Amino acid sequence: MQPIRFFHRGKTVELEDVAPTRSVLDWLREDAGCTGTKEGCNEGDCGACTVVIGELSEHADGATAPVRGLSLKTVNACMQFVPALHGKALFTVEDLKVLHAGQLHPVQEALVECHGSQCGFCTPGFVMSLWHVYEQHHAGGTQPTRQQLADDLSGNLCRCTGYRPILDAGQRMFELPAAALDTPPVVDALQRIAHEDRSHAAFHAPITVDALAALLERLPDARILAGGTDVGVWVNKQFRELGNVVYLGDVDALKRIDRNDAEWVIGAGVSLETAWRALAERLPALTDMWLRFASPPIRHAGTLGGNIANGSPIGDGAPVLMALDAQVELRRGDRVRRLALSEFYVGYMKNRLDAGEFVQALVVPTHAMQRELRAYKVSKRYDSDISAVAAVFAIERDGDRVTQVRLAFGGMAATVKRAGAAEAAVAGRPWTEDSVRAAQAALAEDFTPLTDMRASAAYRMRVAQNLLWRFWLETRSEAPLPEEAISVWARHSS
Ligand code: FAD
Ligand code: FES
Ligand code: FES
Repeated sequence: MQPIRFFHRGKTVELEDVAPTRSVLDWLREDAGCTGTKEGCNEGDCGACTVVIGELSEHADGATAPVRGLSLKTVNACMQFVPALHGKALFTVEDLKVLHAGQLHPVQEALVECHGSQCGFCTPGFVMSLWHVYEQHHAGGTQPTRQQLADDLSGNLCRCTGYRPILDAGQRMFELPAAALDTPPVVDALQRIAHEDRSHAAFHAPITVDALAALLERLPDARILAGGTDVGVWVNKQFRELGNVVYLGDVDALKRIDRNDAEWVIGAGVSLETAWRALAERLPALTDMWLRFASPPIRHAGTLGGNIANGSPIGDGAPVLMALDAQVELRRGDRVRRLALSEFYVGYMKNRLDAGEFVQALVVPTHAMQRELRAYKVSKRYDSDISAVAAVFAIERDGDRVTQVRLAFGGMAATVKRAGAAEAAVAGRPWTEDSVRAAQAALAEDFTPLTDMRASAAYRMRVAQNLLWRFWLETRSEAPLPEEAISVWARHSS
């Protein structure tokens, strides 16, 4: 039973008996007396609880650019469990005053100047998201575009200001006298915290894949915890008891993307941000799906492996990976096997994992990345919303004849799945209006969608058919790629 050690408010904090699912937000507000961090939704949606986590760069997955030896990332304190803080630094809004010798930090100064706060409830969350942007850019002497700033703040909701003054402050803060985080003392403190296999009561955190595999063989009923962005909602909203928790966030070997001529192997611990950015760099048509997947704090904490293992029928990761013929690499003890993702789900939130088995990686064949691919996310709210329908289509052609076709949908059935009948209507035929019309009609054989609070069954079917039509319009021989697909990528990558 080792204590949980992390850096907070200028010193290393050591905690002994903390419940495995004690949220960082509750610890801050109820135990540490840091009530600057607010609770709004308690489910990762509003951003009021945004805090910044600092990790030694060698243990981080590269979701954000390192700042003088530290990798800083925003996360939602309501979605993070205290034992997962071990070996990390926790920065909250109270720190900015300390960091800046009692003066207001340029972020705070700019929000005051630009009237970026009215009731103030959202403000600490915005301050921490803006501070993260400040530190990411200040080190390199760069500044985000206004659009990039809006993307970076897409996880923070404000009911009062209408956001313009906050965006103004996000630009003004770079014009004020500089104030950079003094990282050496933080790095030094974190280097003194042992990176080792650890257990705190029912919370187990191995640091190697072998130790993870052995632990899960010994505790086959344990709940695997990756980024906690699904699990955190179950604890906060459904009051689920997790029992033994096996945390894979300390396993550095799972946080890598290994690429070779044949395949990309995306480790199960790779954050959503890192995975999506890598895929969108290779396939710019994925940019919209990337930037609209949750919000930066959720993408910093959550993993693509967790998205696939969770298996929500409206998950956005699975349709993309199914259109790319991805496999899931599963490990149980010393046994490693691979399975086509399209065969991994067996029913609503059910998959083929054996007891004690875990997703070790997602494997994407490089040949599939040559395909003409489009990804469409249809949701009520543009940013940070769960899809009503997610569709990812990919084709290969020989002349105008379709040689390979993948039509994968989320939100249309109890699992994410490919539309087999619609694919059959297109495969081997010319990519013409006739074959697309036949595929649109065949969708009715593939799916009997549900009506729920996000969309009606009729809406879902109509949208699915229209997206297929759009895909044809965008990829038929005589029509160019629509500008917005590339401009979305350009908006975020420049
Ligand atoms: P966790 O919550 O840690 O785990 C999720 C599940 O997978 C658990 O059952 C866990 O036991 C299991 N698991 C995790 N890793 C493994 C592994 N390696 N092997 C076996 N089992 C494993 N999802 C979308 O698809 N699109 C969205 O737009 C979206 N928006 C969201 C917005 C908010 C505000 C929130 C809170 C969530 C959102 N999600 C969305 C859902 C969630 O963020 C994703 O599913 C995320 O990828 C889950 O990853 P995680 O690492 O946090 O998983
Ligand atoms: Fe709303 Fe955490 S309280 S995101
Ligand atoms: Fe009131 Fe943003 S200032 S919610």
